[in-house]
Amino acid sequence: MTEILQPDARGIARAAAVLTAGGLVALPTETVYGLAADARNGTAVARIYEAKGRPSFNPLIVHLADAEHARRYGVWSDNAEILAAAFWPGPLTLVLPLADNHGLSSLVTAGLDSVALRVPAHPTARAILQAFDGPIAAPSANPSGRISATTAAHVLAGLDGRIDAVVDDGPCAVGVESTIIGLNHATPTLLRAGGLPVEAIEAALGMQIDVADGAEIIAPGQMASHYAPAAQVRLDAKTALDGEVMLGFGAVDGDLNLSPSGDLTEAAANLFDCLHALDALGKPIAVAPIPDHGLGRAINDRLRRAAAPR
Ligand code: TXA
Ligand code: MG
Repeated sequence: MTEILQPDARGIARAAAVLTAGGLVALPTETVYGLAADARNGTAVARIYEAKGRPSFNPLIVHLADAEHARRYGVWSDNAEILAAAFWPGPLTLVLPLADNHGLSSLVTAGLDSVALRVPAHPTARAILQAFDGPIAAPSANPSGRISATTAAHVLAGLDGRIDAVVDDGPCAVGVESTIIGLNHATPTLLRAGGLPVEAIEAALGMQIDVADGAEIIAPGQMASHYAPAAQVRLDAKTALDGEVMLGFGAVDGDLNLSPSGDLTEAAANLFDCLHALDALGKPIAVAPIPDHGLGRAINDRLRRAAAPR
């Protein structure tokens, strides 16, 4: 059952409580409805992918109450300062180098060393962020491959029964997703055109910005280079060979186990942390078979990329 909440004090307190408990809440932003979870809770973030039926792990945008909160998660620069001051709260997402001790689930960043941050302007989104008092991961609140939801009815048409609650606050004013600017390289880069015109961003920065190639705009998570451990990766392994470290799943145990009980949600939540930890040992990594259904499809998609020859 998906609870329908009103954008009043009671509904906002309830939404924050569901998020704190690791649940999923669809909430309005000025761009589109977002499917929100606690960005520090790997299991909650894994449930986002499960509810959306996403066949792969793309990094998610972390939503914050204000720029002060955002500073904890990204490494700030002069350009970040300028854009945050000019356009936050609003339909702008900044991709910054990931800060030390960020505390975010590695599933939010899909194992990248950068993070997408946004301070939404919608009063209900802001009220929930303030009540929750933490970082919220939120992709658009639609099933994978379907168009973004701009009303609570759209959300329910796609996700009813798959999420804990939706806060119904009418249609979204902007109606397209936020503009994404990458500030993790030398020149600011447009990663996705969106609700904030590029011209306004260029005027604020006093410079022209690069435009990323199509593949990057659509889905940085799809690129083979997106997450590549230094170590060689061997899939569908029943046991480790000499010199390998083993990533287990279920009854097929290893040096680390994605989920000893064979739970795919738990496995997704642990995936990037386990890969990073084993990669740090500097040995080839053998990975136990993962069932190819539900979240297992996204896990296998990521593992195949990690194992691809390069
Ligand atoms: O308006 C919006 O941005 C909406 C509302 C809910 O805030 N959210 C949204 O999220 O559109 P989503 O997950 O549908 O799109 C997030 C985009 C993806 O294209 C993802 O690849 C990109 O942000 N992204 C996230 N982290 C990134 C990173 N570290 N580097 C590059 N791109 C990143
Ligand atoms: Mg989307």
